[in-house]
Amino acid sequence: MYVPKNIKISQYLEDKAINSLHSSNHPLSQPEDEQPILQIWGRASLEGEVRISGAKNSALAIMAGVLLCSDECRLQNVPILVDVTRMEQILEALGVKLNRQGNILDVDASNIGKSQAPYDLVSQMRASFFVIGPLLTRLGVASVPLPGGCAIGARPVDLHVRGLQAMGADVCIEHGMVHACVRGRRSRLQGAKIYLDYPSVGATETLMMAATLAEGETIIENAAQEPEVEDLANFCRAMGAQISGAGTNTILISGVDRLHETDYSIIPDRIEAGTFLVAGAITDSEISLYPVIPEHLAPVIAKLQEIGTQIVTDAPNRLRVVPGALRATDIETLPYPGFPTDMQAQFMALLAIAEGNSVISETVFENRLRHVAELNRMGADIRVKGNHAIVKGVPRLLGAPVMATDLRASAALVLAGLAAEGKTIVQGLHHLDRGYDNLEGKLSQLGAKLRRVTPQTQTSAKSSPIGQPNSQLSVCTSQLSPHQ
Ligand code: EPZ
Repeated sequence: MYVPKNIKISQYLEDKAINSLHSSNHPLSQPEDEQPILQIWGRASLEGEVRISGAKNSALAIMAGVLLCSDECRLQNVPILVDVTRMEQILEALGVKLNRQGNILDVDASNIGKSQAPYDLVSQMRASFFVIGPLLTRLGVASVPLPGGCAIGARPVDLHVRGLQAMGADVCIEHGMVHACVRGRRSRLQGAKIYLDYPSVGATETLMMAATLAEGETIIENAAQEPEVEDLANFCRAMGAQISGAGTNTILISGVDRLHETDYSIIPDRIEAGTFLVAGAITDSEISLYPVIPEHLAPVIAKLQEIGTQIVTDAPNRLRVVPGALRATDIETLPYPGFPTDMQAQFMALLAIAEGNSVISETVFENRLRHVAELNRMGADIRVKGNHAIVKGVPRLLGAPVMATDLRASAALVLAGLAAEGKTIVQGLHHLDRGYDNLEGKLSQLGAKLRRVTPQTQTSAKSSPIGQPNSQLSVCTSQLSPHQ
């Protein structure tokens, strides 16, 4: 087993593991009645336009990608959300210097001092495993905690590991850590031909980054084609990497000796945009979204039009929802350009009030139907059979207290609350904050009646729905942005 000289692994892991759960900022460490909740008064129609933030799943991969560069880089359009903050903490723990101003993040990874990512941070966010590729190819060694499973599935990293081994890395997993180093006397990873058994987004990104500084050519076949993979490739190319074919199922990378500084702007978040398209459809409201890249939303737009909602492209980067009577349809989640699994829950909330029966099949993650029970609490009629949900449309949903179980499930419950009669209370907001940049602030700007209530504000706000003199909305929203 390979162990960095100055770290006693087992003791380090044990302490960290125990501490992380008890650390005061771990959301689940707060007693339930101290966790913020979201109160939603449904049936308000929305209007106006909403600004879409930078893409979370691009930002996380690109932030791992800065480790490839021994110069300073500037990232623009970086969303403000908990997962991005966690990735910043991981980069800082590895010795990267960061300076954040709003949506701009200046990074300096010229002197990364560590090849080991901290357990307590990585264990809270799977995407941090993406640092293994850049660390290994830049330093020749990397130790990253094995990201455990999460609410939506086991989520192994075997494809990442096998790809790195094909590029000449020795990889062993011990005590919950993945230790990787360049085999033998070579100092660099070697180009290789890698066929992915499944077009995994994460594995494609890890191997593409590892290949940028490897010796020779790497071909990744059956690669993921998601827009976030292409955005990461464009970022690496802006630093001087030689990558072609990103966005297709075959990516070719010719390794280079080093990468240089760049100033890069992250693409808009297609999943946040998709969530707002559904917000318009489910509340029967006409709203506009910008900036967006309509092509990235093609499968989502196609399904909305099948359901009866028109999506109009008012400008190359602007979409408008024109609501209509909702009809049932069937959905099967697939790797891009198929229907995104990250939009499955939001569409289930929509189809819950569509005319007729819909079948939703989740094929990407094995445990991503946990929002069904919560939607049924709101009067939906959904049955689960294996990885299929049979949705029998009902005339309306009714407000109820519900619990979010994962990131996209939390968004679905917020959307259901907007459409429901009466008041909905959403708990488990730490899921929402992980992946949405001020969702409720943006929704309330569109006219939604909702309020985040923290224990402090609970007592005073109890009686007053939004719009009454002592409404506390402004206070709640300010608690969202971690950087203030
Ligand atoms: C990315 O996760 C996204 N996360 C996910 O978004 C998204 O749902 C997913 O891609 C699919 O589009 C980020 O980019 C940070 P995968 P990732 O590797 O890379 C199996 C959200 O809501 N698999 O494409 O982890 C795996 O178990 C999140 O924003 C292996 O078996 O997804 C899963 O069933 C949730 N072995 C399937 O492939 C591996 O080594 C797809 O996973 C890797 C993956």
